[in-house]
Amino acid sequence: MAYSREALIEAVAAQMPDKRWKHTLGVMETSVKLAERYGADPVKAETAAILHDVAKYWPVERMREIIEREGLSPELLHYDKQLWHAEVGAFVAEREYEITDSEILGAIRYHTSGREGMTLLEKVVCLADYMEPGRDFPGVDSIRKLAKTSLEEALVAGFDSTISLLLQKRQIIFPLTVLARNDLVRILEDTK
Ligand SMILES: [Fe+2]
Ligand SMILES: [Fe+2]
Repeated sequence: MAYSREALIEAVAAQMPDKRWKHTLGVMETSVKLAERYGADPVKAETAAILHDVAKYWPVERMREIIEREGLSPELLHYDKQLWHAEVGAFVAEREYEITDSEILGAIRYHTSGREGMTLLEKVVCLADYMEPGRDFPGVDSIRKLAKTSLEEALVAGFDSTISLLLQKRQIIFPLTVLARNDLVRILEDTK
């Protein structure tokens, strides 16, 4: 990796307000713990966590331009802007921070939406983003509890909370999140 861990941390922290950086530190810590608990690579998990929100505070127009110019999932432009930073973040991680590992890039790309057939590392980082110590939303404690015994159960609870919030607010649901949730429910049913 071209950037040392410290250089990466410094470069990413400079792109966001302190509050969001604090969230990133929480995601790093939680990703490493979950990786160790569930047999994912903790170094990859931490690297993905450092970078996962790198584009979160970029101007919307800058993200739109990258999505259009680079042909990154153009359908994203028809969905909530909150989803864009994940895809743009993966692009930036590869292009600017020279991350070549496809697992790390996937964990950044799908950390908000999830997807069908999530890898172990994608599950770890996505769940860490839901439950890092700074998160406080109804249901977060039960997600943390489930995470002690099942990555999949905890993630389903996370996606369910996102989907029900969107339903309550009559907002559009990104299809990948529904696919991710259904896929995990199926996996859990099959292992019963
Ligand atoms: Fe994010
Ligand atoms: Fe995040």
